[in-house]
Amino acid sequence: MTEPCQEATAADLDGVVALENTCFAEDPWTRNMLQDELSRPGGIFLVIRAAGRTAAFAIGWAVLDELHILQVAVDPAARRLGLGRQVLTALEARAISADNSWLEVRRDNEAAIGLYEAFDYRAVGCRPKYYTDGCDALLLRKRLRA
Ligand SMILES: CC(C)(COP(=O)(O)OP(=O)(O)OC[C@H]1O[C@@H](n2cnc3c(N)ncnc32)[C@H](O)[C@@H]1OP(=O)(O)O)[C@@H](O)C(=O)NCCC(=O)NCCS
Repeated sequence: MTEPCQEATAADLDGVVALENTCFAEDPWTRNMLQDELSRPGGIFLVIRAAGRTAAFAIGWAVLDELHILQVAVDPAARRLGLGRQVLTALEARAISADNSWLEVRRDNEAAIGLYEAFDYRAVGCRPKYYTDGCDALLLRKRLRA
């Protein structure tokens, strides 16, 4: 049974680090990087907990009129249950001053692209060989407000 999406606290760090390493095994953020996000001005760091574990988390930066989405991750055992949708909805809702939301996604990440397309994100650019293994990054944008 999952809890509602909430602001992350220091008590979530162990679970977030574990999920980060599971979801982004090739190039995970370090514990220090994740810890910094707990106190970043303009930062939005959300978690969904389930039975004392971290089921999902998302990190964004609300900078002036833009939201930059840095991380969205869901426990592999809890995928396709709507948690990605839930955490992304909450992230966008908290960026109250943002007109546009931006993110980068690997061109071969079908699940993430499927999620973002379902949220009306559209590709507006490509960064060739952006990732260390040579995969391109697609730059996606969504207009949050007209
Ligand atoms: C991408 C990710 C966050 C999706 O989380 P999720 O909880 O499984 O997604 P949801 O259940 O909320 O799915 C919402 C919609 O996204 C799309 N989607 C999700 N997974 C998909 C998949 N594997 N293939 C295609 N579309 C998919 C679907 O439109 C889905 O709606 P539906 O289930 O009604 O068809 C998850 O797969 C994940 O953590 N991946 C590893 C980390 C990652 O790549 N993060 C993104 C970095 S940019």
